[in-house]
Amino acid sequence: MKTFAALLVGAGKMGRAWAQTLGDCDRVRTVGWVDNRPGAAAEAIENLKLSAVTAYDDLGQALAQQRPDFVLNVTSPDAHVAVTLAALKAGAAVLSEKPMADSLTRARKLIAAGEKAGKLLMVSQSRRYHAGAVAFRQLIRDHLGGLGILNSDFFLGAHFDGFRNEMENVLLLDMASHNFDSARFFSGQEPISVYCEQFNPSWSWYKGADSAVAIFEMTGGLRYTYRGSWCADGLPTSWESQWRAHGPRGAATWDGETAPIAARVTGDKDLIRDCQKITATPPDLPFGGIAGSLREFLDALETGRRPQGECHDNIKSLAMVFAAVESAQTGKRVKVRG
Ligand SMILES: NC(=O)c1ccc[n+]([C@@H]2O[C@H](COP(=O)([O-])OP(=O)(O)OC[C@H]3O[C@@H](n4cnc5c(N)ncnc54)[C@H](O)[C@@H]3O)[C@@H](O)[C@H]2O)c1
Repeated sequence: MKTFAALLVGAGKMGRAWAQTLGDCDRVRTVGWVDNRPGAAAEAIENLKLSAVTAYDDLGQALAQQRPDFVLNVTSPDAHVAVTLAALKAGAAVLSEKPMADSLTRARKLIAAGEKAGKLLMVSQSRRYHAGAVAFRQLIRDHLGGLGILNSDFFLGAHFDGFRNEMENVLLLDMASHNFDSARFFSGQEPISVYCEQFNPSWSWYKGADSAVAIFEMTGGLRYTYRGSWCADGLPTSWESQWRAHGPRGAATWDGETAPIAARVTGDKDLIRDCQKITATPPDLPFGGIAGSLREFLDALETGRRPQGECHDNIKSLAMVFAAVESAQTGKRVKVRG
């Protein structure tokens, strides 16, 4: 079995989660950890009691000394482009936390840099490796007879420290990017256009827009409607959101926590048709969440197979975010161009 040398970049909350996931994987050797806050990587290495991992404050020095097979980019979103570009230019593949970039133009620049270097750039869309999500997608395929309506609701009062309090378009870029990617994953359809409104309720504690409603036209005649707020204390939805799907033969729902359910039409008379209830059995995935992303990335490095989240595909999810932002700014329906 081949083992890959990894350089972890970003020693914040998510960087620590990734350090543990890398440590649990026998196909990876973490050779270095970089954070541009002086001492932050060394402190994280000491706290997690990691051996054989060198701390760096400088990415260029770490890349030159370690020559890693891949860089895991877990920096704050404003640093994603610079870190991914430096890694690709140094000849390393990149697994990046979402969002790939802070604009579509810069995402395209990253894709071009990956092509030039001949190296894989994949964005970790960890929600795709949730057993409930996999089961919900399968229910839609097996029982609805097509898909015309998809909706997700996300309502949480999230009181963060750090970059999210200052970030523009914080809900759409940092959270709805998961939902928009999931809408593509569940439906197998691609975005065509969007109308979106962003806002902050009067009690908002965010600088950027923390709430939004959006309606996407997707291929196959699908309408995907999104409602969300990060400024909604009380009666929270799950972090996965609450989902509802309708097709000609029935409906499916998933609350993000319990097993998804479907109702399949069995009757052909009465005002409201009889339905049979079906409860999905979520698959026993060997690796879920970010551990699932990591396995898919490593498999792709080994086999050359195109992984989920590969940059040419992932830009379509990112394009949904920036089209929604543009629609909210202009008040117009906007075409989604990935
Ligand atoms: N998939 C998920 O469910 C999930 C959950 C949380 C966060 N995330 C993503 O993970 C990323 C990090 O989030 P976080 O909560 O750990 O943020 P954080 O602010 O806690 O940590 C980010 C770290 O990056 C470092 N950094 C910034 N610029 C850098 C640079 N140029 N070079 C090296 N280090 C740099 C900062 O000093 C900080 O330590 C974000 O992209 C976020 O969207 C994903």
